[in-house]
Amino acid sequence: MPEAPRHVPLCIPNLDAAELEAVADVLKSGWLAHGPMNHEFEAKFAAFLELPHAVCMNSCTSALFLSLVAQGIKGEVIVPSFTFVASANAIVTAGATPVFADVEYETGNLDPAAVEAAITPRTEALMAVHYAGHVADMRRIGEIAARHKLLLIEDSAEAIGAAQDGVRTGGWGTGCFSFFPTKNLTTGEGGMLTTRDAALAAKVRALVGHGIESTTLAREKKERPWLRAATFAGYNFRLSNVLAALGAKQMDKLAGMNAARRAHAKRYDAALDREWFDLPVERPGCTHVYQMYVVKTRGLDRTKFLAKLKQTGIGASVHFDPPVHTQPYYAEAKHPRGGLSVTERLSASCVTLSMYPQMTEADVQYVAEQANRAAPECRE
Ligand SMILES: Cc1ncc(COP(=O)(O)O)c(C=O)c1O
Repeated sequence: MPEAPRHVPLCIPNLDAAELEAVADVLKSGWLAHGPMNHEFEAKFAAFLELPHAVCMNSCTSALFLSLVAQGIKGEVIVPSFTFVASANAIVTAGATPVFADVEYETGNLDPAAVEAAITPRTEALMAVHYAGHVADMRRIGEIAARHKLLLIEDSAEAIGAAQDGVRTGGWGTGCFSFFPTKNLTTGEGGMLTTRDAALAAKVRALVGHGIESTTLAREKKERPWLRAATFAGYNFRLSNVLAALGAKQMDKLAGMNAARRAHAKRYDAALDREWFDLPVERPGCTHVYQMYVVKTRGLDRTKFLAKLKQTGIGASVHFDPPVHTQPYYAEAKHPRGGLSVTERLSASCVTLSMYPQMTEADVQYVAEQANRAAPECRE
C-alpha cells in the first residue's frame, strides 16, 4: 500500500486547555459583552509593546478605519498595493484616497523611495503594512513622515512582535493589529489599536462603543448607571469579553509561539532549494515573526506547483494575488499610483508555505522536500 500523504495545512490556531478554561470561565460568569477581560487583554498587549495605550476591538480593519477617522484624515494616504485589500478598504471607507506605492522585492514592504515619490500636497498620511511578519523600514519611513508632517499608520495585522532597532511594530505610529485565526495570536476575530497619544486612545475607545466615553462595566459602579452620554457619533466595534479572554491567554504564549515560528523559518531556510526559491530575509536590526513564510518562486508555473503541493497534503497558498490596484473596485476607481512593477512581480511569483507554531521539525522538512521535488516538474 502506498503511504498516505502527510497532511500539513497552511496554518492552525494554537489553542490549548488554558484558552478553553478562560473562555469557559467567562461564559459561566454571564458577562459576555465588553468586560473585565478586555482590560486584561489590553493591559497585556500594551505591556508587551511597551506602549501606554492599547484599545481592543472587533478587527484590524476597524482599527485601521478608526485610526483615520479619529485623526480626521480625508486626503491622500500612501499605502502598498501588495497587501490584503482591507488596508485600502479602510482608507476608502474612511472617506480618504489610497495612493498606491511600490514595495521592495526582498521584504514586500513599502519602498521608502517610492513613498517619497508619491507624496503630493494632498498627502495626509502614510500607511506602512508589515508584510508577512517583517517590519517595514520604519526608520526611513518614519523620517519621511516627520519631514513632510504626515501621520504614520502601521498596518501590523501580520506582525505582532516584529521589531526594528528594538522598537516593536505599533510603536512607530498608530498601530493596528489583527487577531484573525491565521495571525501570530488569535481571538477568532479581533483587533487592537495602539498609540502613545492618550487623547487619541480615549477618542478611539469612545468610537468603538457608540461614541460613549464610559463602558457598561464602569457605569455599573455609578449611582446612575443608566446615564450614557455620547460625545461622538460612534460605532459598535466592540470585542466581546469571551474573545478578550481568549486574547489575554494567547498573550501568555505569544513570545513562545513567535520563537517557534522563527525556528521553523530557519529550518525552511536551510532546506529549500535556492535554485527555485528566493527566500524571505530578515534585515539587519529587524526581528521577523513569520506570520507567513513566503518564498518568491523563480521560473515556475505557480498554479501547477501549488496543485502538486496540494496532492502531497500541503496547504500552501498565495498572499497576495491579485494586488489591490487590479481588483475590480480599485481598477475602476483609478486611484493614484506610482509604478508598481515590483508589486506585480511579487504577486505573480509568491507562494506561502505552511507556518504555525505547533508544526514539527518533520512537518517543515516534509514541506521543504516536497517543494524541492515539485519545482523542477513545474518549470515554465
Ligand atoms: C495586511 C492586513 N491588513 C488588514 C487585515 C484585516 O484584518 P481583520 O481581518 O482583523 O480585519 C489583514 C488580515 O488578513 C491583513 O493581512
